[in-house]
Amino acid sequence: STPFVITLDGPTASGKGAVAQVLAAHLGFAYLDSGALYRLIALIALRSGWKVNRELSTADEAHLVIWASNLDVSFVGEDIFLGEENVAQDIRDEEVGNMASKIAVCAWLRAALLDRQRAFAQGTGLVADGRDMGSVVFPDAPLKVFLTASAEVRAERRYKQLIAKGFSANMDNLVKDLNDRDARDMAREHAPLKPAQGAYVLDSSDLTLEQTVDVVLKLCAEQV
Ligand code: C5P
Repeated sequence: STPFVITLDGPTASGKGAVAQVLAAHLGFAYLDSGALYRLIALIALRSGWKVNRELSTADEAHLVIWASNLDVSFVGEDIFLGEENVAQDIRDEEVGNMASKIAVCAWLRAALLDRQRAFAQGTGLVADGRDMGSVVFPDAPLKVFLTASAEVRAERRYKQLIAKGFSANMDNLVKDLNDRDARDMAREHAPLKPAQGAYVLDSSDLTLEQTVDVVLKLCAEQV
């Protein structure tokens, strides 16, 4: 039988990751953090000496596809292993996030990651978090949610998240980074950030994590 897929898309720091993890744990579903895949490739690129402002050449795009096809990643609870190395912390760096959004414009890279993402739909169900989960990766998902929040609330959430993880952060830079990244994610030609057809648009600016999860659980109940 087909796993029940819940897609959670939305802009940077909208709270999708936290909501998706709580939902998946609550329902006993698998969890896909698709942004982590883009961040892993970004980490590999940065470690190969690429700079965030690099203009991607055709040869670069070929490298991205090769890195994606050979990606040796395992998700173990909160840990993310690249080969033997736990990079769960490293990929949360803002520089890695910015690089991820730069390389995410590459259609060949996106195509190279498709099957890997779809393979997460196993067992009873899956909660998939990203930008194009409902529009491209799981277009037939029975429940699609597009989670938003005001720019101020998102910058504040990202600030707290970074500080909690031991990174330093500056509010003004964060607001600028979030806006740049969202603009790039929305403007790109392939799989741009936008609500999928049939998605529920949910603004979580004034909701706690628990309240947001409750709304999604109610939407789930309406689907079955
Ligand atoms: O969600 P997260 O901030 O970890 O994603 C990092 C970047 O990866 C995003 O800014 C976006 O450009 C890209 N991404 C994407 N498609 C996804 C998930 C992430 O293009 N499904």
